Amino acid sequence: MSIVTAKEILMDAAENKYAVGAFNITNLIQMEAVVETAIEKKAPLIIQVSVTPSKFLGPDVLVAIYRTLAESAPIPICLHLDHSTNIEFCKQCADSGYTNIMVDASKQPYEENISQTKEVVDYCHSLGGISVEGELGTVSGVEDQIKVAEDEAALANPEQSVEFVERTGVDLFAPAIGTAHGVYKTKNPIVDFDRLGKINEMLNGNGVKTPLVVHGGTGLSKEYAVKLVAMGGAKFNVSTELKHALIDSTYGYISENREQYNPGKIDIVVKAAIREVVSRWIDILGSTGKA
Ligand code: 13P
Repeated sequence: MSIVTAKEILMDAAENKYAVGAFNITNLIQMEAVVETAIEKKAPLIIQVSVTPSKFLGPDVLVAIYRTLAESAPIPICLHLDHSTNIEFCKQCADSGYTNIMVDASKQPYEENISQTKEVVDYCHSLGGISVEGELGTVSGVEDQIKVAEDEAALANPEQSVEFVERTGVDLFAPAIGTAHGVYKTKNPIVDFDRLGKINEMLNGNGVKTPLVVHGGTGLSKEYAVKLVAMGGAKFNVSTELKHALIDSTYGYISENREQYNPGKIDIVVKAAIREVVSRWIDILGSTGKA
């Protein structure tokens, strides 16, 4: 039960109108922090790792840590590869044991996006025990090695979204709706809630088939997040806020304890900072007690 695909977790979320937090981590301390918090909140969990930290630590190492933490956990937990533009790396992580793979061919022309996404879907489905997320339109901002300028970002077309999902066979679908990776430059970003609602109605109106993903959680207000969940967002990604928590807590500790050389103490403050962020989002997304 604890080692699961994202789709297994998200069907219930989409049917019951809450979202599962998908939190990006780059090391063991952060992975422990998100797992411990989700257990405490009795919330299902998606652990996300981008391509750079996946390569740095190695997919097999990450999967070994994930399995060790998840197998004894009383909640369902998925390990997700975030935004891989490289098909071979998607396959490598699938082979290692990630349970959700995001192939991001959204910067490619439409037909190429379909063919690359379908290749990863077919591969993962043939292995079994892995769901696949695809993206249509482009999310602006910076996420790991992917950079999209604001004027390059394109929102997902609803009719094309349905065709994309049908032709690729993706299990989860991330339509670009105006949210952005990184820190928003404005307090009230222009997010096309209705577009998300329309896509959800077209894909899942007659019963949930393909849960929807919201990218760019950092910096969205509680009000925006709640509305995105009401419009059909079932997986809600948060990355930058956790990176800030890690760096700020480390910097704060070192500034105040310049004479100390005990790395374990930094781990403790980092864990506490990450736990605070994760706990807050789990409550906002309505997944507390859903595991
Ligand atoms: P943020 O960095 O804006 O939270 O976005 C996270 C994300 O969408 C990861 O895929």
